[in-house]
Amino acid sequence: MVELVDRGNGLFGVYIHWPFCAAKCPYCDFNSHVHRGAFDEAGYVDSYKQEIAYYAGLTRGRTVQSIFFGGGTPSLMDPRSVAAILESIGHHWNIAPKAEITLEANPTSVEAERFRGYRAAGVNRVSLGVQSLREGPLAELGRRHTVDEAIAAVRLAQSIFPRSSFDLIYARPKQTLADWEDELTEALWLAQGHLSLYQLTIEMGTRYFDLWNAGKLKMPDEDLGADFYELTQELTRNAGLPAYEISNHARPGQESIHNLIYWRYGEYAGIGPGAHGRLLIDGKRHATAAEKLPFQWQKQVAARGNGMTTDDVLTWEEEGDELLVMGLRLREGIDPGRFAKLSGRRIEQRQIDELKRIGFVETLPNGNLRVTDKGWPVLDAVVADLAA
Ligand SMILES: C[S@@+](CC[C@H](N)C(=O)[O-])C[C@H]1O[C@@H](n2cnc3c(N)ncnc32)[C@H](O)[C@@H]1O
Ligand code: SF4
Repeated sequence: MVELVDRGNGLFGVYIHWPFCAAKCPYCDFNSHVHRGAFDEAGYVDSYKQEIAYYAGLTRGRTVQSIFFGGGTPSLMDPRSVAAILESIGHHWNIAPKAEITLEANPTSVEAERFRGYRAAGVNRVSLGVQSLREGPLAELGRRHTVDEAIAAVRLAQSIFPRSSFDLIYARPKQTLADWEDELTEALWLAQGHLSLYQLTIEMGTRYFDLWNAGKLKMPDEDLGADFYELTQELTRNAGLPAYEISNHARPGQESIHNLIYWRYGEYAGIGPGAHGRLLIDGKRHATAAEKLPFQWQKQVAARGNGMTTDDVLTWEEEGDELLVMGLRLREGIDPGRFAKLSGRRIEQRQIDELKRIGFVETLPNGNLRVTDKGWPVLDAVVADLAA
């Protein structure tokens, strides 16, 4: 007889993908598109409302703890569009009184002018794509803002929103450890509760990939990459913003709820072109994905009420693997008991003991299993060993 388990953990978020950008950055492989010509934004927002109604029908009774407008560039949205989408979410689901409502923003002066409008619409957290605090690298990354504009946007955001964060990309071509130490030190002065720090990755299909492939972009080797990572951990820890996930740093209590819902393997509805979701329907976890092309998605929503192109029911084994992949990114680690419940099997004690012996994992007083500082640079290999 199959034991019935509660596959959820009560966490529920809504992700809204806005797919448009003013220009395509050469390193980016997110689902982002530059559209030219006339655009009926209010009509486009109606498609989001339809998808929200559809997903709410599948997940009745949930309380939304986090809403995240990601992109693309959601800060190109008219604040009235953000307000309309939030109103629609509130109409179909309960929104928790302390829900985190984040919008990803690019720090140009034009976009900063909309910040008050977003706050009035209900946004209570912004995440700014600063990427670098140096002019040369900003230009090389194809960014459309200057350092001064970015700093002004961060300060303005801090004065308007209760919470804010910004992103930087490091381990860039030509960057030295000393350069990064200076830049990150400045960033830590500027930051309040949260920072996302990503090592540059070369993604297929981007201009950076072509340059790198042609030998025209020299990336740090593995050892230098590890040194960048270690330096980042040390400086952020000393500044009181330790990592709570591989690339995310926060003062305790300032962690992003949206991020935690992903990594604690909660439930989330993905709305908009190319958005992914994980939903519990009739006790089974569904992995959903939507049509990526913005206007194709809109057509499909008009025809069917949703833009879904994938709806896979995950096997127990797949759920267990996802729990490990997501949860072991977190400093708090994973609950091996929950892994056993979801996957119907236990993590091999022999594997745990071996990884402990070489110092890659440890067990916390609450019984959670987590990857150590030494294990983080080789996280993928650690996850593969535990999942085996
Ligand atoms: C959805 S993206 C960008 C959001 C927003 N449009 C912007 O550009 O700021 C979220 C973050 O991913 C990071 N990112 C994107 N591509 C990356 C890459 N190839 N390597 C490292 N970080 C990357 C950037 O820091 C970026 O701010
Ligand atoms: S990094 Fe941001 S602005 Fe640049 S293309 Fe990607 S989503 Fe658009």
